[in-house]
Amino acid sequence: MAENIYLDNAATTPILPEVLEAMRVCYEESFANPSAIHTVGVKARYEISKARETVAQAINADPEEIFFTSGGTESDNLAIQGVWFLSDKASRKKICHSAIEHHAVLDTCQFLAKQGAEVHSLPVGSDGKVLVKEAFERIDYRTLLVSVMHSNNETGVIQPVEEIGAICKKQGAIFHVDAVQSFGKIPLDVEKLQCDLLSISAHKIYGPKGVGCLYVREGTPISPILHGGGQEKGLRSGTLNTQGIVGFGKAVDIVMNDFTSENERLTSLRDRLVQRALSEIEDVELCGDAKDRLPNNVQLMFKGLEGETLVLELDRLGVFASSGSACSSESKEVSHVLQAMGIPKEWARGALRLTLGRWTSCSDVDRTLESLVRIARNIRKLNKN
Ligand SMILES: Cc1ncc(COP(=O)(O)O)c(C=O)c1O
Repeated sequence: MAENIYLDNAATTPILPEVLEAMRVCYEESFANPSAIHTVGVKARYEISKARETVAQAINADPEEIFFTSGGTESDNLAIQGVWFLSDKASRKKICHSAIEHHAVLDTCQFLAKQGAEVHSLPVGSDGKVLVKEAFERIDYRTLLVSVMHSNNETGVIQPVEEIGAICKKQGAIFHVDAVQSFGKIPLDVEKLQCDLLSISAHKIYGPKGVGCLYVREGTPISPILHGGGQEKGLRSGTLNTQGIVGFGKAVDIVMNDFTSENERLTSLRDRLVQRALSEIEDVELCGDAKDRLPNNVQLMFKGLEGETLVLELDRLGVFASSGSACSSESKEVSHVLQAMGIPKEWARGALRLTLGRWTSCSDVDRTLESLVRIARNIRKLNKN
């Protein structure tokens, strides 16, 4: 029996054994409340400060600018709501986001629209990239906040974030970048991006679930959305998740250590999978820009097929992927991302996202491809009859 192949690393990654071990040690030795002044509390605090430094270094930030949260969703909410609550709505109440943001951003903006924010969606082209010219026209002196993701969670397409950062700077708008998918896969530097806020989640980089952070550039006007014990300099109350944070720090350590070689390895596997799919399967296309995309993302579209059917057929063969066509597992609608790219429904419905990871081998890629060739051929034959 062949081994299973996990190709859903954009949804979440398996935890690294070294991360698990660091967390186990932390549960045993640094279990105390990190706010406590006794020795065990001090030890927990020290472990957290080490992780804070590691995360900060990975994005060229100062450790003082890292605020631990429960993950990407909370970081996005804190960034957007936190800026809105403290803002002077008389002068700036416009919030711009890209049309392809994660729901953690989209729904937060919609929530604020009900509270008086003027929310604008920035369009993307058929390559899945935010149109810089449109962004330039829409972001103005009345714009409070702009939120654009670093790379998209469905297509893996990397966004023109530096250009948008420059526009924000010129207009005096606060710039938030959701880097949940990019962090640990491609280089990120908050200075180059010219961003004020940046969201990260640990479970996308072989760390534990339920932990992440928000980078907040010093001096950014932001208020807390959770109130309580005043942890994280009052911006994020709640007893710190020491074990999660230690695991997060360890995961960052590991992924940054072999960053370049892993990036190159994944890029070559990704390109192999894309090339073979395009040449060996009929009526299949790569979704979004072929070059400016995450090294581990292959989103294919099979004309006339259902992405969900492909996922289930692959599952029967021990290959775990994801359908890019549905907004959520319950929804049959074409995703807002593919809609925004203007992809015709007959293609968008057949979207299949394969996201590679540290354990993906060349033979995994080949076996997946060969399975897909057979599955697509069989379904199309059945559909004809
Ligand atoms: C781009 C993006 N933002 C935010 C999130 C939410 O992160 P979390 O699962 O840590 O809440 C995800 C998760 O898939 C994501 O892909």
